[in-house]
Amino acid sequence: MFVNKPPMGFNTWNTFAENISDEMIRETADAMVEKGLLAAGYQYLVIDDCWSKRQRDPETDKIVPDEKKFPHGMKAVSDYVHSKGLKFGMYSCAGVRTCADYPGSFGHEYLDAATFAEYGCDFLKYDYCYKPKDADGALLYRKISMALRSCGRDILLSACNWGCDDVHKWIRSTGAGMYRSTGDITDSFVSFRDIFLSQLDNFVYSAPGCFNDIDMLTVGMRNRGNVAASGCTDEEYRTEFALWCMFSAPLMLGCDVRNIDDVTLKLVTNPHLIRINQDEEGRPPFVANCCGDTKAGIYVKVMSDNELAILFCNLADDDRRMWLPLENIGIPVSSGKALRLTDVYTGEDAGAHKEYLMYRVPAHDTRMFIAKIVNA
Ligand code: GLA
Repeated sequence: MFVNKPPMGFNTWNTFAENISDEMIRETADAMVEKGLLAAGYQYLVIDDCWSKRQRDPETDKIVPDEKKFPHGMKAVSDYVHSKGLKFGMYSCAGVRTCADYPGSFGHEYLDAATFAEYGCDFLKYDYCYKPKDADGALLYRKISMALRSCGRDILLSACNWGCDDVHKWIRSTGAGMYRSTGDITDSFVSFRDIFLSQLDNFVYSAPGCFNDIDMLTVGMRNRGNVAASGCTDEEYRTEFALWCMFSAPLMLGCDVRNIDDVTLKLVTNPHLIRINQDEEGRPPFVANCCGDTKAGIYVKVMSDNELAILFCNLADDDRRMWLPLENIGIPVSSGKALRLTDVYTGEDAGAHKEYLMYRVPAHDTRMFIAKIVNA
């Protein structure tokens, strides 16, 4: 499947881990529709690890769902998810066991792809735990990709090898639509900051066809659930979401969307932010700072319709005055051009500016704009 925009959806892992069930998935599907998340673009509902029994069926060798969690089987869950207009995602692993010690797909790739197709699956997250030492990781992703491509259903392959083995260099050639490039996120500022910074040089390896996945969002988790850590302030969650949007990362919500709070809902459905994330040109931003301070980075993304997105991102622990000479983005004073800005968070006109932009940005916070180039 050709993935032309960063996939958007919800994944069970961050909040629920093994506490997943038929009921919880149906309630989540309902919530995604009722709260307007599907309408905003969040279309995949993905069940992560822990959905199956601990062992394969001894007769058929198939992975089988845990009937305590999914008493009606996976097809019934998938049918319900589809009946809501959503797409259905599942999880397996390139190794012999999954990360939470359930059966992995190593040596069973074609059988498992056929099983996922029977379930009506549209998306497969494919992890990297318990990979036999001498197995070639790239070959394992090629194998599952070929198995999915011949299973009779269009299934998006979401690779998850945490950035090992220089994955950015070869993953696109396997046919995957997105690839995890980092270790697991937890619900804290330091976690998402370090994940983002670790990929700053690798976002050029993210484009229509295969996007760099910097993990499921913790936005709105409010320090509850499986990856709870120190939690984040509203400004920090906004910073996280802004970075994911700016760098065209897949937007997979990880909070309990059944109980999503108003601030979070407004943020994750902000039409300007989503437009920046989903821009059809899918270009990586460039760093536009004059002084190369990555903790207080200014990022500019060239978008379709001759627009630009501009992010002033203060990941430092103190307030910063952030200065962007327009010369740095290729608009010198001699051009006679200026930038007309829309504030992405408020939707308000933020004026026309020539020569430079300057904002005071509090610690851990951001300012973000969509800009048009106009005559000065
Ligand atoms: C790995 C992945 C996580 C999650 C867990 C499930 O740690 O990186 O995103 O899928 O496995 O066990």
